[in-house]
Amino acid sequence: MDETRDLLARHALEARDNAYAPYSKYAVGAALFASNGKIYTGCNVENAAYGLTNCAERTAIFSMVADGCQQIEAIAIATENSGSPCGSCRQVIAEFSADIPIYLVDADGNISDYTLYQLLPFHFGPQKLPT
Ligand code: THU
Repeated sequence: MDETRDLLARHALEARDNAYAPYSKYAVGAALFASNGKIYTGCNVENAAYGLTNCAERTAIFSMVADGCQQIEAIAIATENSGSPCGSCRQVIAEFSADIPIYLVDADGNISDYTLYQLLPFHFGPQKLPT
């Protein structure tokens, strides 16, 4: 598992280099390991109409789904200072995973370990919706 952790951290840092963040200047990269064995990456993509910004995590997840896979096994998120995923991204991760590892990576490559349900306890899920 340490191997996956390091690999994802490296990919997340690399993806961060592609961030388009001219407004916030806060570059974010994400890399996820999917159930099909592939790694998908993403970066934040901002817009002059600020509300259209897409977070790095969701960029990576949407890329996974577009490629035909719907299961995340682990995700790494790289920022300057170990920033943790926003509430929207936590919820979108939950849509496509169980209680997976979330690795927060800082610009020096230091990794801190969390799990999704630590960051998003009592989350909303499809079981509450009418059948
Ligand atoms: N951002 C992410 O990419 N992921 C998060 O989980 C938190 C925030 C981005 C959005 C915006 O481009 C910048 O970080 C500052 O909020």
